[in-house]
Amino acid sequence: MNFGFGQAHAKAHLLGEHSVVYGYPAIITPLLSLNNKAEITDSDKTIIESDNFSGTMYQLNYRFSGLYSLLTELLNFFGKPDLTFRMNIKSNVPSKKGLGSSAAYAVAITKAVFDYFDYKGSDQEIFKFSQIAENKNHGKSSGGDTFAVMAERPIFFDSDKDATILRLDAKAYIVVADSGTAGLTSQAVKLVADNYAKDRKKYGDYFREMGQIAEQGRKELIAGDLEDFGGLMSENQRLLAQIGVSTPYLERLNKIAIQSGALGAKLTGGGLGGSIVALSKTLPQAKIIEQELKKSGAAGTWISRI
Ligand code: PMV
Repeated sequence: MNFGFGQAHAKAHLLGEHSVVYGYPAIITPLLSLNNKAEITDSDKTIIESDNFSGTMYQLNYRFSGLYSLLTELLNFFGKPDLTFRMNIKSNVPSKKGLGSSAAYAVAITKAVFDYFDYKGSDQEIFKFSQIAENKNHGKSSGGDTFAVMAERPIFFDSDKDATILRLDAKAYIVVADSGTAGLTSQAVKLVADNYAKDRKKYGDYFREMGQIAEQGRKELIAGDLEDFGGLMSENQRLLAQIGVSTPYLERLNKIAIQSGALGAKLTGGGLGGSIVALSKTLPQAKIIEQELKKSGAAGTWISRI
């Protein structure tokens, strides 16, 4: 019996979401404790099962058309469009929280199907397939999430759609806090596109500034200048609010993180809800920030070393 397994983890944008859709770079870090695991085995009827879905390909197309297109393309690629299979997906990545859950599904599924056919695809091939789902999910996807959910370390994702691993010269921790409200990436990406269409000069300038912040952030992070990097995160947050994707509660969580000793804080991912990410130099400080965010009603919190 054939069997295939694939997994991918969550991610947090440290700098550059949204402007990355317009060709500017972003810095994205993996959240290794949150992951999606997909298994595929032979079966005489196709059934796909996860915590929030159980059904056939036809039903998958109705609920998750991006994943349906991805699976269809994968089966065509391997010359088995009529293959029947059972796929089980286990996930502890909260969805619609700006943590890359859709990319983690796409990559885990792609890797599982590659494994099933004993195919050793490159990261670029996994990227190409996963983007079929991501482009459908986001409307227009930069591809940054897809690389980040495969990476073991923070990445600098550039406008050539390539990712460079960033090696830090210092220890640093992030605290991610889920605001408890859903962040709808496709809506946020559309809102920003509409704003940009209305005033290209103003929004174009915001994107450029975010791009410069990400470029600068790369240098600070590599050099281990965490105070400066934190300042850039907060500066990026100010611009994210200007382009219209922050909310009062996200602002409040950011403020609490800073008051609790974070070096910088910002929303992460699409926004309009979802999560924030705060930077800390030490683990004890990160734990204090986490406690304060919990007291202020954060629905979930995670600490990760970057
Ligand atoms: O909300 P998430 O985790 O899907 O992140 C979206 C990041 C954006 O820059 C807003 C979109 C993209 O395609 O990069």
